[in-house]
Amino acid sequence: MKSALVFVTALAAFGQASYDIYRAPGPIVIDGKLDEAAWRQAPGAGDFHFNWFQAGVKEQTVARMLWDDENLYVSWHAHDRHISAYVTQRHGPVSKDDCVEIFLSPNPGKVRNYYTFEINAIGTMLNRCRTDWWTGPPTWEPEGVQYRTTFHGLPKKDESPQDDHWIVEAAIPLKNFARDAGHIPPRDGDRWRLNLQRLGGRTNAQASTWSPLAEGVRSFHTPEAFGWVQFRNRPAQGLVRSAAMVEQGRELYNRSCTMCHGQNGTAGDRGPALAARRRYLRTSDRDLFDAIKSGIGGTLMPASPLPAEDIGKIVAYIRSLRATAIDAAVAGNAARGRQVFDGKGRCRECHMLQGRGGLIGPDLSNVAAERSFRFLEEALTKPKQNIPQGYQPVRLVTREGRRIRGVLKNEHNFSLQLLDSEGRLHLLARDEVREIEYENQSLMPADYDKVLTAPELRDLLAFLSRQARSQEAR
Ligand code: HEC
Ligand code: HEC
Repeated sequence: MKSALVFVTALAAFGQASYDIYRAPGPIVIDGKLDEAAWRQAPGAGDFHFNWFQAGVKEQTVARMLWDDENLYVSWHAHDRHISAYVTQRHGPVSKDDCVEIFLSPNPGKVRNYYTFEINAIGTMLNRCRTDWWTGPPTWEPEGVQYRTTFHGLPKKDESPQDDHWIVEAAIPLKNFARDAGHIPPRDGDRWRLNLQRLGGRTNAQASTWSPLAEGVRSFHTPEAFGWVQFRNRPAQGLVRSAAMVEQGRELYNRSCTMCHGQNGTAGDRGPALAARRRYLRTSDRDLFDAIKSGIGGTLMPASPLPAEDIGKIVAYIRSLRATAIDAAVAGNAARGRQVFDGKGRCRECHMLQGRGGLIGPDLSNVAAERSFRFLEEALTKPKQNIPQGYQPVRLVTREGRRIRGVLKNEHNFSLQLLDSEGRLHLLARDEVREIEYENQSLMPADYDKVLTAPELRDLLAFLSRQARSQEAR
């Protein structure tokens, strides 16, 4: 009696985690890669808690959830320097391996009716239906669950020096919860209870949970400690970039990061500009979040001790400064835009994209992470006042009378470097050049609003706006 009371008080003191589950704005492909825009925009659930931590490195898990009329989507990005898994038999003891879990109670009034999904790093799953109505065997066969892990289907996974992280992406059909849920699909504002877990493995095996357990409680099967989730019938975007969040992120950034980076995202004495027209290495929310949370190995960039929520705000702030095209909600059909790029627009004749194309113009593979939407639009429709460095078109005649047309890559007192339209690089000493004419128009055509129809231009811009290299895609 007494211990039960202590238990309840401790729980209340801890407080349960909470999370809004937003609607996935488009299809999610279950391939163990979290490269859909929907995942980029879904907020992380927040730090996991190490309930019975003793020693070692606390390796975090970034979990995200989304939903649509059919499925609940769950992803876990597990930071892990020692990844191992050996259980391959369905319903085997996967929690000995590096393993993630979700336990969920669709009816908050009956939190002890819950369903479990446990998945190890090589993709073996164990399920239980722990409800008062279940009369079947101890194991349970949910219908239609799709999932993929980073090491999916391997006969085993041994620890390796390359280990860094692993991912599980799952789509769980909502109809599996029809007996306990108030509504299937859920309605806006419906609340469920659930917990997300991470455990197992050999080296540095540590148990952690999203919603904290009370001190001394060592079982994940503690539904009273489950967190609260609320279904939101709209995509996450609005929330991630709310003005208040960005403003709080700005304050946090200017307070915590400017001993190295500059005020307001500019370059500082010891850190690069975070918002400038340069090639960002990190473009998605998750990449930025991870760099700030864990630091960048081998550089001065340290791991930040700030809580996950504050880091999320700083990420929103950095993205708002960049306002790059990849962050914009852009109308148009990107798949049709690709056809314009390769076909009528003839863009690939001059531009490299994903390793294929011409060299006269800049490589566009990451352009959406470097440029704003407006910049892209203007690049296609407005002649530039100044030709960017490295792209000055010239016509020259050599002493022997050879004519070359191309762009000037480099120019020094005694030599120049010219890239011709066939992609050949010419290195010429000044005294080999008889005549040189600098053209006053960039080779980049700026009349695509006339060459293309309005829908073609819109689709092309939609396509360009999705060209960003994220860590995940590499
Ligand atoms: C001790 C100096 C230092 C501090 C403090 C610091 N940074 Fe950095 N940061 C760096 C350096 C150096 C780099 C470049 C690392 C590299 O070469 O990849 C960097 C890189 C980054 C990047 C990656 C940029 C990109 O596009 O790839 C982000 C994002 C970042 N820092 C954010 C932050 C934030 C937010 C804070 C405060 C919470 C912070 N940094 C605090 C030194 C620092
Ligand atoms: C005849 C060669 C040529 C063709 C065709 C061409 N471009 Fe360009 N483009 C260039 C050159 C050269 C530059 C760099 C100079 C400049 O910005 O004016 C450039 C610059 C750009 C930029 C600015 C990149 C940045 O980050 O500054 C974008 C965007 C772009 N092109 C997109 C396109 C698209 C999309 C198409 C097809 C519809 C296309 N280009 C067709 C030569 C070409």
